[in-house]
Amino acid sequence: VGRSEGTGSLRGRRVTISVGGTREALDPVRFLGNRSSGKQGMALAEAALAEGAQVTLVLAHAEVPAPPGCDVVPVESALELRDAVLAALPTTDVLVMAAAVADYRPAEVMTTKIKKGDGEDPVITLVRNPDVLREAVLARAGRTEPLVIAGFAAETGDATADPLAHARAKLARKGCDFLVLNVVGSSLVFGQDSSEITILDARGAESAVISGSKRVVADAVIAHAAELLPD
Ligand code: CTP
Ligand code: CA
Repeated sequence: VGRSEGTGSLRGRRVTISVGGTREALDPVRFLGNRSSGKQGMALAEAALAEGAQVTLVLAHAEVPAPPGCDVVPVESALELRDAVLAALPTTDVLVMAAAVADYRPAEVMTTKIKKGDGEDPVITLVRNPDVLREAVLARAGRTEPLVIAGFAAETGDATADPLAHARAKLARKGCDFLVLNVVGSSLVFGQDSSEITILDARGAESAVISGSKRVVADAVIAHAAELLPD
C-alpha cells in the first residue's frame, strides 16, 4: 500500500540477507539471545524483492514473518548462520548482514537439561564467535564476479568515541563496501518501527542520512547496494 513499484534495478540479481537474532544454546531448553526483532531485515527483503531481486533470507530468530517470495534458510546460532551465509555466497550478488549475530557462545552445550544443585552456582564460560561479515569479505578475495557486501552497526558512543567514530573504525575492521549506522540513544531502536540511519561508504564518508520507516531505510540501503553493482 503506497509502496513504490521499484525500478527493477536488481532484476536477475541474487540478494542474500541475514535477518534476526541468533540463539546460542546452553542446553536443550535454554539459550543466550538478543532483542533483534528482524523487522529491518524483513523490510530489506521486501525492498530487494520490489527491485526484482531473487532473495535468500538467512533467518535467525525474528518476531515478524518473512515476506512471501523469499528463499528462507532457517538458522539458530552464529555458527549455523556463518555456514548458511558462506554457502550462499558463490551465487550472491549482494550480501546484507542485518542479523544480530551473537559475539560469544557458551563454551559448552549440555546435551541434557542443566539441573539446579546444592553446590556452587554455575558459571557460564563464553567463547568468541566468528565474524561472519569479515569472513564474507575475505571469501570475496580472488573472485571475478562482483559482490557487494553491506554491514549494519548500532552504536551509542561512549567515553572513548562518538557513534560515527566507532562506526568508521568498525567499517575499516570489516572491510565491507558500506556500513549502515544506527545511532541508538536511550530510546530503544530494537523493535521500533522507524529509525534514522547514516550510510558510510567504504572510505568512511557519510554518503547519506535517511530517516523514516524501516521500509524507507531499507529502500535506501538496497538502492545504495544496487548502485555499487556494475551493469
Ligand atoms: N556481525 C557478523 N558476525 C559477528 C558479529 C557481527 O557478521 N560475529 C555483523 C553484523 O551482522 C553487522 C556487523 O557485523 O552487520 C556489525 O555488527 P556489530 O555487532 O555492530 O559489530 P561487532 O564487530 O560485533 O562489534 P561490537 O563489539 O560493537 O559488537
Ligand atoms: Ca557485536
